Amino acid sequence: MLNRVSRVALSLVALALIVTACRHGGARQTVDIGTYLGGEAKLVAAEPVFAEHGMVASNSALASAAGAEIMQQGGNAVDAAVATGFALAVTYPFAGNIGGGGFMNIAMADGRTAVIDYREIAPLAATRDMYVDPATGKLTNKSVVGHLASGVPGAVAGMTEALAKYGSLPLAKVMAPAIRLAREGFVVDSALARSLRGNRIVPQFAGKTLFYPNGEPLAAGTRLVQAELARTLETIAAKGAAGFYTGEVADALVAKMQRGGGIITHEDLKRYKAEWRTPIRSTYRGYTLLTMPPASSGGITMTETMNILEQFAPLPRFGSTGYTHLLTEAFRRAFIDRNEKLGDPAFVKVPLDQLTSKTYAKSLAAGIDRTHATKTPAFKVAAEPEHTTHYSVADAKGNVVSTTTTLNGGYGSGVWIPRAGFFMNNEMDDFAAQPGTPNMFGLVQGEANAIVPGKRMLSAMAPTIVLDSEGKVLLVVGAAGGPRIITTTTEVVLNVIEHRMSLADAMRAPRLHHQSLPDTLRYEDGAFSDAVADSLRAMGHSLQRTGGLANANGIMRVNGGWIGVREPRSSGGAVGY
Ligand code: GLY
Repeated sequence: MLNRVSRVALSLVALALIVTACRHGGARQTVDIGTYLGGEAKLVAAEPVFAEHGMVASNSALASAAGAEIMQQGGNAVDAAVATGFALAVTYPFAGNIGGGGFMNIAMADGRTAVIDYREIAPLAATRDMYVDPATGKLTNKSVVGHLASGVPGAVAGMTEALAKYGSLPLAKVMAPAIRLAREGFVVDSALARSLRGNRIVPQFAGKTLFYPNGEPLAAGTRLVQAELARTLETIAAKGAAGFYTGEVADALVAKMQRGGGIITHEDLKRYKAEWRTPIRSTYRGYTLLTMPPASSGGITMTETMNILEQFAPLPRFGSTGYTHLLTEAFRRAFIDRNEKLGDPAFVKVPLDQLTSKTYAKSLAAGIDRTHATKTPAFKVAAEPEHTTHYSVADAKGNVVSTTTTLNGGYGSGVWIPRAGFFMNNEMDDFAAQPGTPNMFGLVQGEANAIVPGKRMLSAMAPTIVLDSEGKVLLVVGAAGGPRIITTTTEVVLNVIEHRMSLADAMRAPRLHHQSLPDTLRYEDGAFSDAVADSLRAMGHSLQRTGGLANANGIMRVNGGWIGVREPRSSGGAVGY
């Protein structure tokens, strides 16, 4: 029920922030995801919510309620996803956005499946070495903070296009809850207040007057009214994507870029196009996975990992040395391919068929030594960024939508567009700004992901849909967390279909992360016992305990309806009816 919002609205966890704080002021650093989840991220009550008809799970209870409201007005899951996406731009400015981009995975009850890629693209004036200091040859932090950090936003093009093709309600109706939240305001919760307190980027830019009145971050309990954003949303609601990519909003964006030394032009905005793609369809022990193809690496890397694991039947039990070792070795192999071979398919030849084939997985599995860690070969390259948000939607007919969207870092580049009221992304850091050098998440990537004008930067986003052996939706899930998106989403799926956990347990279960380089197995408390840790070290694994890995929101079909679970380590809400 909608009134469940009240039960989830005030989250206790540090949502925090982040990456941005660490990036402030110059030197590039890699960031532990625990930082963005609030340092020592702790599990908090994330009560699974049951609803008979429709369900939305996201990082903002108000945004989930916006989606549920639209379904109650007769909208389908795509209408609700678009309503939730625009509402997140208002209530979760940390990552919800219209100045960023994302990927939406759609499975309609009539059997149609589709994904829409609305990833940002490099502006036409971008150059391969634009973030390298010519004097020192070192990377600057301009791909992370400030006006040069932004790719051309795709969110508005993607959401309006998805609605036009698969939605059932007019854009203005679907956007009404977001416009109301912006125009009338909403009460800042503890998660947003904490996120602003931890942020060090926004106070450098125009958004400070709104989010830091009198120099202090908005406190929990304050009503936040975003009149400029409301006006922008009203313009989009009236004019569609043209209301963002041309006209006053585009003028405000380009003027801000010109004042601050950014390079996005009217021509960039006019040329932006979201792309419809075919989902990667793979199988795992009789289940079907629908995942995201490039320009995200998410689907290929998940598929490759799960194809490798499928070679081992049954998998050892959760938390055992054997299971942890196999999972690590599978992730290692999939990430080696990911980091070296994947990029925007419009610019590089991606060996999708090979990387997702069972034969290839079999050969990789055969190379796993069950008693020793493999060493990741030295890479020719570097990394991946954050902060992102995932939401899952299911409706009464069985249509489902899995969407991940991002500004990249928390509050993106920190640049807020005056007169239009939104933050710009810092997605340019998802390129290999200097192939071979780690990005802010320590990912080492190759030439396939080098900067080229008009190219989409490689993503890790992995909005996923799992079908059961009868082809009915079982799970709708995805995550935020840069490369940890891939490992966390894979683990939630494995926990449900391999370890037979409920969705709530699957989301709560301690997580592991390995991305090939750095060659370290990161793990949350409780992932395994001390004895297992000793065994893993003896096998040659390097272990690093971390405060929290990624941020997932999921929905599972159960008898008579849907269960929604929001990330137990963070804020948000599952809202159904
Ligand atoms: N910016 C995070 C990702 O796309 O993977």
